[in-house]
Amino acid sequence: MNQRVNYTQVVWEITRQLQESESLEKALRISLGTVVRAVGAEAGTIWFYDKDGDGRIHPSFWIGGADLTGLSLAAGEGIAGSVVETGKTTVVRDCQSDPRWAGRFDAKTGFVTRSMVCVPLLNKYETIGCIQIINKLDGSLYNDADVELCENLAMLTAIAVDGNGLNLGFSQEKPTLISLKNVTKTFGTGEMQVQVLKGINLDVREGEFLVILGESGCGKSTMLNIIGGMDQPTSGNVIFDGKDYASATEEELTAFRRKSVGFVFQAYNLMPTLTAEENLDFIGELAETSMTAAEALASVGLLEKRSNYPGQLSGGQQQRVSIARALVKRPRLILADEPTAALDYETSIEVLSVLENVIKAGTTLLMVTHNEEIAKMANRVIRMKGGVVSEVVFNHHPASARELVW
Ligand SMILES: Nc1ncnc2c1ncn2[C@@H]1O[C@H](COP(=O)(O)OP(=O)(O)O)[C@@H](O)[C@H]1O
Ligand SMILES: [Mg+2]
Repeated sequence: MNQRVNYTQVVWEITRQLQESESLEKALRISLGTVVRAVGAEAGTIWFYDKDGDGRIHPSFWIGGADLTGLSLAAGEGIAGSVVETGKTTVVRDCQSDPRWAGRFDAKTGFVTRSMVCVPLLNKYETIGCIQIINKLDGSLYNDADVELCENLAMLTAIAVDGNGLNLGFSQEKPTLISLKNVTKTFGTGEMQVQVLKGINLDVREGEFLVILGESGCGKSTMLNIIGGMDQPTSGNVIFDGKDYASATEEELTAFRRKSVGFVFQAYNLMPTLTAEENLDFIGELAETSMTAAEALASVGLLEKRSNYPGQLSGGQQQRVSIARALVKRPRLILADEPTAALDYETSIEVLSVLENVIKAGTTLLMVTHNEEIAKMANRVIRMKGGVVSEVVFNHHPASARELVW
């Protein structure tokens, strides 16, 4: 199909998305994704200029590429900053050798920006931000039709923002707990080799509830295992407390797992011959600092079941014991891999309510799930596709477990 005819359809599609979606935020994200795909690019970002606030330019949405949470540009800084300042569309073949290039973000995230089209977002009176479409995958320069499509997206976005009084919801810069930079993982050797992770860039922030979505087999568990020190990446860095666990010894990894990470799996993995309390004591002895088993059981509402054996507990109660077991050493980070996959709706809500309290108590929680409804509870939702983080979405108003329906 002729590219221009195709792009006209894309513009119609975006117009419809912006008109029909119940949330402008969601519509903008979908529209940006539509343009990134249509142009054949790797990533896209919508930036907003907080002119009357801190005077900086903040990434509000992005598709693919690096995790930009908490980062911002000074007006005039870098290519995006200069586009906001001049109000002029800019096409760059090689950002790394462009005099305006700031380079700060790539250095921080590990992402490599090559080509870019950056168009200003103009409302009736002024520049309110810009849209970047990054790294045309076939290596060619953006052509006139590509640039025109981006300008159309910018125009429709500016109109939509203007008409809706969008809550830009800039993310606060919370300290990073663990940082993944260009993490890859390959399984097998020779002809059986499969690269499951192809360059994951992700910062996990202290105290956040991060949900990881993605189709079965896309590498969610592989990534979680690497974050938890149960597996090591083929290449890349996993930074925790300033230390790179990608190159840690087996002893260092074991100490990290024991002290800093709590795991919750689909299977409860409780010892059938030990009571609920004994199942926790067993772990408590392995960790240096711990709360008592009774305290941990009380925090999941199961103190009165402390002397029951797993066989005398319901599925939901057993999963709550396994959450208590993860909590007993007061880990910095809890990793939950499909914790409700084996549970029915009512029991899932029971378990999610317990996890909700864990988050409220300030623990960082990463949960892998294929249940899109659960993502409504998260502060941030990461979608994995093709071995990379393909999408990052913020929930400015996370739902509580009791509000979820499926
Ligand atoms: N230890 C392993 N050896 C070989 N292949 C593996 C191993 N672990 C996972 N894989 C493969 O990696 C891919 C991703 O697996 P996984 O991370 O479990 O996906 P998800 O959790 O998203 O369903 C799958 O194709 C799986 O077969
Ligand atoms: Mg899995």
